[in-house]
Amino acid sequence: MYVGGVNMKLKVIDLFCGCGGFTYGFDYLDDTFEVIFALDKWKVACESYSVNYPNVEIVCKDALRLKPEDIPDADVIIGSPPCQDFSIANLKRKEDPTLINWFWKVVEEKKPRYIIMEEVPRAKYYVPSGVKIRIYKMCDYGIPQIRRRLFAGEFPEPTKSPINVTFPAVMATEYKGVGSKRQMTRLSKIFRRKSLIPEAKLVQTFPIDYYLAGNLKEQYIQIGNAVPPLMSYRLAEAIKRDLEGNSNILSAFVE
Ligand SMILES: C[S@@+](CC[C@H](N)C(=O)[O-])C[C@H]1O[C@@H](n2cnc3c(N)ncnc32)[C@H](O)[C@@H]1O
Repeated sequence: MYVGGVNMKLKVIDLFCGCGGFTYGFDYLDDTFEVIFALDKWKVACESYSVNYPNVEIVCKDALRLKPEDIPDADVIIGSPPCQDFSIANLKRKEDPTLINWFWKVVEEKKPRYIIMEEVPRAKYYVPSGVKIRIYKMCDYGIPQIRRRLFAGEFPEPTKSPINVTFPAVMATEYKGVGSKRQMTRLSKIFRRKSLIPEAKLVQTFPIDYYLAGNLKEQYIQIGNAVPPLMSYRLAEAIKRDLEGNSNILSAFVE
């Protein structure tokens, strides 16, 4: 993005990056954003991430072992602290907001201009008070899923692009290991089998050739964990539009 002949990019960091679904849209809009840092403790996900985003510094460590100075300053902080503990699909639910709290501590420290935390809707009780919360239905944004996701932070509204989901395109991984017989029956009625990796990628809007490290089980987990790349793109695009309409804000990013 050029302002007054100066090329400025917003520095982005992705905390709990997984295989990189949330990074996707920011990396795609590389005239506006530069993803400079990503963090995840899972080696397999880090390997996927580093193949898909070879220019991003990735730290493969437990977040709780990082010091604030290990994380660079950024204009945009995105991240999806692990949500298994909050999912209503998880029958052995044990609510531990430690990593969500850690995310907001980093935000408080770094004071980025834009913040987007992605979570399951139930995690709304763990978002600091006063922070904007939105729950978006994925099919309203062009993603073939009826699933709802929570986004919290400081970000402009993404543009809607609703599609009709004519069958409940539910990720097999969402139901894997879940004890509910009703859910498993519903799943097998839809697919009559477990979805294949390329099908799971399509439902999550990953490009078919998106690299995933690990064995099949690990690949399903990475896809299932991810923010759909198309949703990431819509959010990044909204920030880009926000900047374009706000040239006074842009001057703050001139280096
Ligand atoms: C919901 S997934 C993130 C998905 C990612 N945003 C994407 O779009 O692909 C959460 C990630 O947090 C990672 N994680 C869990 N506990 C962690 C910790 N203590 N430190 C760092 N990463 C952790 C998991 O390995 C997992 O990849």
